[in-house]
Amino acid sequence: MSNIVDFQHRAAELDSSDPLSGFRGHFFSGSETIYLDGNSLGRLPIHTIRLMQRMLEQQWGDRLIRSWNEHWLELPRRIAGKIARLVGAEDDEIFVGDSTSVNLYKLAYGTLSFQKGRTEILSDDLNFPSDFYVLQGLIKSHFQDHALNILKSEDGIHAPLDALKTSVNNNTALICLSHVAFKSAFMYNMARLNELAAEKGTKIIWDLSHAVGSVPLKLNEWGAEMAVGCTYKYLNGGPGAPAFLYVRKDLQSRLESAIWAWFGHARPFEFGHEYEARSDVWKYAAGTPPILSMAAIEPGLDLLLNAGMDALRSKSLGMSAFFFDMFKQLLEPLGFSWASPTDPLQMGSHVSISHPEGYRICKALISPNDGSTPIIPDFRKPDIIRLGFAPLYNTYKDLAEAVARIAAIVKNSVYLEYDPSLEAVT
Ligand SMILES: Cc1ncc(COP(=O)(O)O)c(C=O)c1O
Repeated sequence: MSNIVDFQHRAAELDSSDPLSGFRGHFFSGSETIYLDGNSLGRLPIHTIRLMQRMLEQQWGDRLIRSWNEHWLELPRRIAGKIARLVGAEDDEIFVGDSTSVNLYKLAYGTLSFQKGRTEILSDDLNFPSDFYVLQGLIKSHFQDHALNILKSEDGIHAPLDALKTSVNNNTALICLSHVAFKSAFMYNMARLNELAAEKGTKIIWDLSHAVGSVPLKLNEWGAEMAVGCTYKYLNGGPGAPAFLYVRKDLQSRLESAIWAWFGHARPFEFGHEYEARSDVWKYAAGTPPILSMAAIEPGLDLLLNAGMDALRSKSLGMSAFFFDMFKQLLEPLGFSWASPTDPLQMGSHVSISHPEGYRICKALISPNDGSTPIIPDFRKPDIIRLGFAPLYNTYKDLAEAVARIAAIVKNSVYLEYDPSLEAVT
């Protein structure tokens, strides 16, 4: 039986032998905070501050419109190439721009139009709700004979694998799944699901928002056809940073984008009156790329690529295992439940724990009344505290501090001092 002091010593040892410890210094540290929400909004790379300053003053301020030819037209391709390296795709299989939801709309529209005669769309209830809304909207506006079937997870933690296997059939046009689930962190075996879909002629769109930058991805090797993902979580691209999409090379000329606009035109600067789509992945470009927010993605990407996804995964698994040990000994006896998978092969880089007073415990961590360092996880209804482990900047000490504080908040009923009403962003 270990107590918190034992764990704090162990954390110090693990931090001192952490091969990634040098990366922490590349992130801006404002007022002292233990930040365990990199799965929602990643930290700010210091290099991004300098880059933004330079882009504002030199590229926009001084060079003005000339910067399109000098820097900006090539920027989306360069960033797409770096995302491609991170997800195991070819450079010309990634488009960067728009939001994850809009990219899903574009891909799902193309897929459903392509899969003529098939009318079922499958997902599971671990998927992110925006994905359901996108699919529901498409059904209402364009595919009224289609139905979305959301399969239920038996425990709210693990995906309904058996139900999926038996549900995919010759009428299934599209499966849309989160590779790593936003609440429980369950991670699909992507290669296996792709195989199953291919056998039935079904297409899968993977939502990589909680997977990219948190787990190694090999989209080509695993037979993935399409994917979408965001860049503001583990990629540290900044609030509302442009998202990306992936379409395997052989599908690009066959799938149509839902949005026809000039940046997806074969020759936009000829200003012709008829739309003629590009045949490559940049057909998914619609309007002018958001240059400043897109440029802000690059420093975070460079840090991840330098660290290497295998090293990041190894630390992430180490952190999850360390947290799980502390959980068993110090939090479970206080009424917490583990709300994530326990098999490391089935989890991403965040964990969820639940407690009936989850929301007020979260508030007490974020806004301590006694002047101690704020600890920032996030809360998901009904009772889940989600803790993100970003190996580039989180330490084992962060985790030991978080567990010590959570335990003290419950033991001393500190949460009773907090208002239970929900804020807009939790
Ligand atoms: C798994 C997942 N999919 C989709 C989205 C929506 O992304 P966006 O706001 O870029 O449309 C989110 C947002 O957090 C998400 O976590």
